[in-house]
Amino acid sequence: MPAVCRPPASPSSSAALHRRPPLPRPVFGLPRSLFFIPSPLRKTRIRCSSQRQALFNRIAPIYDDLNDLLSLGLHRSWKRMCISWSGAKKGDRALDLCCGSGDLTFLLSQKVCGLDFSREQLSIASVRQDLYWKASYQNIQWIEGDALDLPFSDCYFDAITMGYGLRNLVDRQKALREIFRVLKPGSKVSILDFNKSTSSLINTAQEWMLDNVVVPVASTYGLSQEYKYLKGSIAEFLTGKELEKLVDEIGFSKARHYEIGGGFMGNLVATK
Ligand SMILES: C[S@@+](CC[C@H](N)C(=O)[O-])C[C@H]1O[C@@H](n2cnc3c(N)ncnc32)[C@H](O)[C@@H]1O
Repeated sequence: MPAVCRPPASPSSSAALHRRPPLPRPVFGLPRSLFFIPSPLRKTRIRCSSQRQALFNRIAPIYDDLNDLLSLGLHRSWKRMCISWSGAKKGDRALDLCCGSGDLTFLLSQKVCGLDFSREQLSIASVRQDLYWKASYQNIQWIEGDALDLPFSDCYFDAITMGYGLRNLVDRQKALREIFRVLKPGSKVSILDFNKSTSSLINTAQEWMLDNVVVPVASTYGLSQEYKYLKGSIAEFLTGKELEKLVDEIGFSKARHYEIGGGFMGNLVATK
């Protein structure tokens, strides 16, 4: 991949990430790391970036299973929609920001970088890359980096995706400015996330789902605090119209927010 990708210092280098990390022995069939969540962090509200980073490291071992369980597998089709809205074509140079364990990165996988600041999520992405072997997956480079300070030169990417990342960033405006900087003119960013709806019916249903399905299911994995923050983060997020306005102010030429998944999810598409 690109020479301009700043080679991350070891041990977070992409080469290190391509090596399959040793999987810890499970305890009672569950990942060992789940049993060692530092108690002060479990009670604290997630505010600053390093706390969010710690949170995503902790939930990494069960993140994929919970996504499948809680969305009944629907997140897979929302992610395919997100990819098709990004306009990424074969041969394009693409970036998947806040890639987590790599769902969107694998779907792009032409010549693609997946960037995240959680080393645990990237390790799982790397294990999945080996596990579900496909020739195109060998084009993926995993980069440990900050979405607020992208290690790429200006006008570098043909397409960018970000799934469930924007809501989690401490400075959304800065992240969108960085996306604008590294996108080529005429190219698109496609951003999938929870929808902060303007309909009180959808908000009530969404909150009910979070309180009565998502948090109870996560608590069976010992992660209720980690998933309780979702409700607050959606409340603090922007509505579709506000997102369109924000990218418009940053300088994108076109912006459109689509409500999907019965209005529970949203996908912002912006063209530089
Ligand atoms: C909810 S997960 C989404 C993962 C994946 N994109 C998906 O759709 O399943 C959000 C990801 O954003 C990452 N993240 C949050 N803030 C970040 C930042 N400033 N820089 C890079 N990654 C960040 C977290 O580590 C986490 O993996």
